[in-house]
Amino acid sequence: MKILIEKDYDLASAQAASLIAEEIRKNPSFVAALPTGGTPLGTYRELTRQHQEEGLSFKGVTAFNIDEYEGMSPDDPNGYYYFLHDNLYRHVDIAPENTHVEDVRAADIQEACLRYEEAIRQAGGLDMAFLGIGNDGHIGFNEPGEGIQSITHLTDLTEETIQANARFFSSIDEVPRRAVTVGLGTIMKAKKLILLATGENKAEIMAALLGSSAITTRLPASVLWLHSDVTVIMDEAAASLIKKPAAPAYMAAAGV
Ligand code: GLP
Repeated sequence: MKILIEKDYDLASAQAASLIAEEIRKNPSFVAALPTGGTPLGTYRELTRQHQEEGLSFKGVTAFNIDEYEGMSPDDPNGYYYFLHDNLYRHVDIAPENTHVEDVRAADIQEACLRYEEAIRQAGGLDMAFLGIGNDGHIGFNEPGEGIQSITHLTDLTEETIQANARFFSSIDEVPRRAVTVGLGTIMKAKKLILLATGENKAEIMAALLGSSAITTRLPASVLWLHSDVTVIMDEAAASLIKKPAAPAYMAAAGV
C-alpha cells in the first residue's frame, strides 16, 4: 500500500487527479469505477480543468458508478448518477453510452446486479476503482459486516451512513434506506485502487485503517490490505491521528 499525505484538500485532490489522468493518457480505453460524495469533488474539478486546458480526453473512457440509491432516477439531483453527470461527465468528452449506473429501479434487482457485473466484464474489467471512505469504514456502500467476496448487490444502509448522507437531502427522512453498490469482490478485482480521504472527520477511520493491517469486515476498507496496487491519498487533516505506519507482524517480529 502506497500512502501519500498532502498538505490540504486541493493538493490531495490534485494528486488523485494526476494519478487518474496518467492512467487515461496511458490507456485511452480506461475503465473506472467512480465514487460520489464531498471528497472527490476537487478531483473531478481538476480532471475537468485538465480536459479543458491540457487536452485530457475521456473519449474512450468507460465509467461505472460505484453505488446508487435504490429507486433513484438518473435525473434526480439527489442521485449518484446525476452527481457524476453534474460534476464530471457533462464537463468532459466522455460518451454518454459509456457512463453506467446500477439499474436501481429494476423489478428484479438481483438480476440487474448480475447484469452490472457483466457490463463491467464486457468493458474489459475495471482498470481502476477510485474510492472514498465512509466514517464507519465503508467503501462504495459496502457496510461493516458484509461479505469480503461480494459482487454488486442491494444493501441496507447503516444509521450512521444515513445520518452522514442526510446533508445532501432536505431532511433525513428523504435519505433512501437501501442502495446498490459494487461489492468488495468487484473492487478487489480492479487492477488499481485509489482511496482518497480528506478532512478531520476522516481522521479516526484512517487511523483505524492504517494503524493496523488487520483485515476485518467490521472495517470494510481493510480488505485493501490484500490488494497489490493501492494508493491511499490523504490531506494532513485526515492523516492527523495516524500514529505510525502499519507494519505486518512478521516485519515487526524481525525488527524491520
Ligand atoms: C457515501 C458513498 C461513498 C463515499 C462515502 C464518503 O456514503 N456511498 O461512495 O465514498 O459516502 O463520502 P464523503 O466523501 O462525502 O465523505
